Amino acid sequence: MAGQETRIRVWRGDASGGGFEEYRLSVEEGMVVLDAMHAIQATQANDLAVRWNCKAGRCGSCGAEIDGKPRLMCMTRMSSFAAGATVTVAPLRTFPVIRDLVTDVSINYEKAKNTSPFQPATSSPDVAQRLYQEDVERIREFHNCIECYLCQNVCHVLRDHSEHERVYAGPRFFVRLASLEMHPLDGADRVTQAKEAGIGLCNVTKCCTEVCPEGIRITDNAIIPLKERIADRYNPVGRLFRLISAGD
Ligand code: SF4
Ligand code: SF4
Ligand code: FES
Repeated sequence: MAGQETRIRVWRGDASGGGFEEYRLSVEEGMVVLDAMHAIQATQANDLAVRWNCKAGRCGSCGAEIDGKPRLMCMTRMSSFAAGATVTVAPLRTFPVIRDLVTDVSINYEKAKNTSPFQPATSSPDVAQRLYQEDVERIREFHNCIECYLCQNVCHVLRDHSEHERVYAGPRFFVRLASLEMHPLDGADRVTQAKEAGIGLCNVTKCCTEVCPEGIRITDNAIIPLKERIADRYNPVGRLFRLISAGD
């Protein structure tokens, strides 16, 4: 695709509405979608609104729907599109548009406040502040989260049901709860917190895992273990059945 003129359709507008505008751009070697947006800003539409900070996949601020798939603009190479293809760039759909590609993701900051921070467990005499390597390994991937909210954006419970916005924390915060629940020195009741955060509405479609740029296995390693712990706590008959089945 390098050196070739490419058509890029970019959504332009604000909260009152908008639509796609097409730009033509010569794609340079190594260009990513964020570079293309900057080139459009520099040469054709200097009022194009784009949020970004690091251009290195670290800050999580440049999420957009690229050809319909939530991705980081700075980590999506233009060379990944077929030669001659028209590339479409739109704002994340789940969050309200502020302008062009910039959305208001502040609902996630509100959700973050609802997850209490690490609380050291100090009541048990057995707490020797000991942390085994296997415990560290188990939660390490959760700490790779860059808070890009692509998982929040793609989760249909939030995307297609605005009525769940306040009652359902969403995959990013289930990852956070799992990292605390599996931390051996955290003393808060994360199982109840996960239940109250609406994890029961998740039907394990794995869409969140598919879009996570950090490769966090959100569903398998965070959501399903939390669901199992809730089931064990609130459905002891089911737990008994599972224990018996495991003993077969
Ligand atoms: S697995 Fe659950 S949290 Fe992830 S996208 Fe599907 S419904 Fe949402
Ligand atoms: S879990 Fe993955 S997709 Fe979700 S906010 Fe964190 S890095 Fe982004
Ligand atoms: S600009 Fe920071 S993740 Fe893309």
